[in-house]
Amino acid sequence: MLEGKRILLVIAGGIAAYKSLDLIRRLRERGASVRCILTKGGAEFVTPLAVAALSEEKVYQHLFSLTDENEMGHIRLSREADLVLVAPATADIMARMAAGICDDLATTALLATDKPVMVAPSMNVMMWGHLATQANLATLEKRGVLRVGPGSGDLACGEVGSGRLAEVMDIVRAVESFFDASAGPRPLSGRRAIVTSGPTWEAIDPVRYIANRSSGKQGHAIAAALAKLGAETVLVSGPSREPDPQGVRVIHIESAREMRDACFTALPADIAVCAAAVADWRPAEAAGQKMKKNGDAPAPLALTENPDILASLSQAENRRPRLVVGFAAETENVVAYAQAKRARKGCDWILANDVAPGTGTFGGASNTIHLITAETVEDWPTMSKEAVAGRLAERIAAAFGRPA
Ligand code: CTP
Repeated sequence: MLEGKRILLVIAGGIAAYKSLDLIRRLRERGASVRCILTKGGAEFVTPLAVAALSEEKVYQHLFSLTDENEMGHIRLSREADLVLVAPATADIMARMAAGICDDLATTALLATDKPVMVAPSMNVMMWGHLATQANLATLEKRGVLRVGPGSGDLACGEVGSGRLAEVMDIVRAVESFFDASAGPRPLSGRRAIVTSGPTWEAIDPVRYIANRSSGKQGHAIAAALAKLGAETVLVSGPSREPDPQGVRVIHIESAREMRDACFTALPADIAVCAAAVADWRPAEAAGQKMKKNGDAPAPLALTENPDILASLSQAENRRPRLVVGFAAETENVVAYAQAKRARKGCDWILANDVAPGTGTFGGASNTIHLITAETVEDWPTMSKEAVAGRLAERIAAAFGRPA
């Protein structure tokens, strides 16, 4: 899978650095060559000897090393790679990358490289959640830095939560899908796409909410497929267990109103695909405090309608994306209802799917689609949600013709 690929692995100073030893092996098993930069902090956790033995390459450590600069200048080091992977990426190295600081070999190579960079963050849960780290991450992602993880669970510091280095095999898969995605044709390069995905959560009070069973699988797969064809893609996702797709900027939101705002902030776009199962209604007023039983009869839940994101994007004056695509989840008269929905909402295409009980569409792995345009209805065979996403992305690319 990774035959002939050259990876420059930056091992920063976190306890998870020991996992980078296994990462080197797994990447090399797949045919990649791995050259490593070990930071001063990294060398506190793993030895240069172990890194050199596993990578079968010289390990680079110092910016001002005469031998290193003679053998391989830091600029060459940063360019002679197909991907620069920072694993573990500590809060510190991410902050220095975001600020453009280059006071050691790792950060200098990261600033000097003209190659794609992927980070695998690893840190304490509070450090990960800190506004400073999240702002640095947002800066890096805006610049196109790719990210894998972190996962959540037990942390080495004894706390529990987000911040664990992604599993080694997840990092390997992210590297593989990066090379996969950059291999094929990119007919959508120069186009911008917005995709909505997942359910929305509508607060009843600080602890309760209204939601639905959407998994986000279809929307996430569409975002990944559009990015694979070269579109600069923003995924606006409600709460979902799906991992963030590679090469996509993901904005996590909870409610329908947040989803709408995030979509409009992400404009202008050429393409919008609304795959989210937006809650139609939300509690008219979310209680500020947890509602108590107090022995009384339950309070009636007054609902109010949520904004229709698909309709508002379709009808956005001056800013309407050129191609707006929606879904229609129906349980009967699938095509007829979907045609009416297309006209009512003002979008260009609707992918109608049957979500009747027993079809397993909601939360399931496959989908049976009818693609409805102004002129035609295409019946697609039942296929996986990834295949639906791939086919839709190809159809979109065909509709746009040549790359921008
Ligand atoms: N949609 C949206 N915002 C909403 C409701 C729906 O963007 N508030 C989008 C969905 O993402 C989907 C399409 O509209 O692309 C249709 O969703 P669906 O649930 O099938 O339709 P509804 O508008 O809810 O209509 P109905 O419940 O009457 O079938």
